[in-house]
Amino acid sequence: MSLPYAADLRQKYTAAGQGQVFTFFDSLSATEQAELVKQAALFDPERINELAKEALHPSPAADSSPAELEPLPASATASILDSDPAAIAAWYKAGLELIAQNKVGVVLMAGGQGTRLGSSAPKGCYNIDLPSQKSLFQIQAERILKIQQLAGASAVVPWYIMTSGPTRGPTEAFFAEHNYFGLDQANIFFFEQGVLPCISNEGKILLETKGKIAVAPDGNGGIYQALVASGALADLKRRGVEHVHAYCVDNCLVRVADPVFLGFAASKDVDIATKVVRKRNAAESVGLILQKNGKPDVVEYSEIDAATAEAEDPHQPGVLKFRAANIVNHYYSLRFLETIPTWAGAMPHHVARKKIPYADLATGDTVKPTAVNGVKLEQFVFDVFPHLQLSQFACLEVRREDEFSPLKNGPGTADDNPYTSKRDIMLQGRRWVEAAGAKVTVSGDARSDVLAADVGIEVPPLVSYGGEGLEGFAGKEVVAPALLE
Ligand code: UTP
Repeated sequence: MSLPYAADLRQKYTAAGQGQVFTFFDSLSATEQAELVKQAALFDPERINELAKEALHPSPAADSSPAELEPLPASATASILDSDPAAIAAWYKAGLELIAQNKVGVVLMAGGQGTRLGSSAPKGCYNIDLPSQKSLFQIQAERILKIQQLAGASAVVPWYIMTSGPTRGPTEAFFAEHNYFGLDQANIFFFEQGVLPCISNEGKILLETKGKIAVAPDGNGGIYQALVASGALADLKRRGVEHVHAYCVDNCLVRVADPVFLGFAASKDVDIATKVVRKRNAAESVGLILQKNGKPDVVEYSEIDAATAEAEDPHQPGVLKFRAANIVNHYYSLRFLETIPTWAGAMPHHVARKKIPYADLATGDTVKPTAVNGVKLEQFVFDVFPHLQLSQFACLEVRREDEFSPLKNGPGTADDNPYTSKRDIMLQGRRWVEAAGAKVTVSGDARSDVLAADVGIEVPPLVSYGGEGLEGFAGKEVVAPALLE
């Protein structure tokens, strides 16, 4: 072993019980050896052991009494479903004003590998087969362009795009190929979240090939450390941004830099706000935003009993008491993001059990397992919520049909797939033009009996961000399916 540090590094891994990482080292070419050493040097094997131990065998909570769960207090919540239209209009105006003053930035979480969707390209490149054939990235970019226009000629909403090892190259190439979708490249900041080694169910670091450790992005909670390490946070500060909207790449209905949400959160002067949609029914398997032992938190569906899931709101008969479904759509004050270094290191890691391709240590061949064989260690973006007092946290309920339709699964699956994404954009467009007074008829060719998307209308973001500006269609006939230009 001639590489400087290589012997020390191997010794360090061996001492930590992770020497298998170097099983094939002596048979690798000099270049491959250098690559493996470079990769292995990124991780501290003792730290990986600690993370693996805590994730695989969590220490029992110091306090074993059952958690006290309550909905968030009314003072911290509002709902688009039943708010006074004047209040919504006031939030919109205040949010647009913040955008006009260049005090708003947007962070996109696009570091996931999209394994369920099964596309080899990053999820944001996915074409959901709209009449315009636009990708998710393009739809989001055009919403930013439009909100800048609505706010005023000099408004700039910088866009911080979090990628990961697997998604960075193809994401940047896609943006360059499409000329940044009309946005100024100077206002787009790509950054990369961290990766962690994948481990076996026994806590051993897996090799993907003879000369490469199997790694995976460290979860959407990796956003916090990545914002700091990449310089994105410093860039936000340099620009004078005070309010940040963060969202997931897979929601085709996401209102990027939504003035209503920004105005709502800013009016409450909170550090984090979150959008939620109403849980469809007691059995829907979604995470819930609530207060747990007096702190804002997210509780997974599997963590609550049936009685809690089914409980009714005492003030609204027939409505679930715990109904605030988490859609990972957040507001952060910049002053809060500046505190990241004081708490991000303590964020827990969770276990995601996956099928992880690995190098067989006997033969060196890479095996694609057919069953779950290991663990990815992931941080969750919402694990920071309990760090806040209730007074620093707010929650806005929005209409699911207007703001949330995630692309999780591949074509032909039951839900949250490319077709449901397309359908939800097309049906929203139809609602908008009908509300503007247009008469929608359906083309004789449309398979309205079969596909709801075929009775819909695509309203591109540059035509309307949220249903506004469609007055010109009053009294006109629009034949669905259509693409408004
Ligand atoms: P999901 O947890 O649904 O993961 O991500 P995914 O990668 O899209 O899909 P699967 O689970 O592999 O099928 C929710 C959001 O969090 C982002 C994703 O890009 C998506 O916007 N994410 C996830 C990250 O940014 N980094 C990660 O490490 C994981």
